[in-house]
Amino acid sequence: MPKIIYKDNQGNSKTIEVENGLSVMEGAIQNDVSGIDADCGGSMACATCHVYVEEKWLDKIPKAEDAEEDMIDMAFEPKKNSRLSCQIIVSDELDGLTVNIPSKMVLSFME
Ligand code: FES
Repeated sequence: MPKIIYKDNQGNSKTIEVENGLSVMEGAIQNDVSGIDADCGGSMACATCHVYVEEKWLDKIPKAEDAEEDMIDMAFEPKKNSRLSCQIIVSDELDGLTVNIPSKMVLSFME
């Protein structure tokens, strides 16, 4: 099974074997990777599965569609290597794929 490496903003990483055909988001959710919330369950409607893909992997995954780009624009601190992890489907070619989870600063006035 391909290994996907999830890194947090503190430099900690978790290497997880994710089944082919699952998304990078599903691999994170099934293994309690914090920082990937996936509120919409993978329907490209929330951007809480936003990750930064390490540069060397960008060419190996299909380009984002317009709808994904639009949602990324609404994500926390989007960058050139931003992707929605629910749209990256794991395959043998992605063995070793490394994604960084954005840090989030949540300001709440509701407490
Ligand atoms: S899980 Fe909501 S956009 Fe990816």
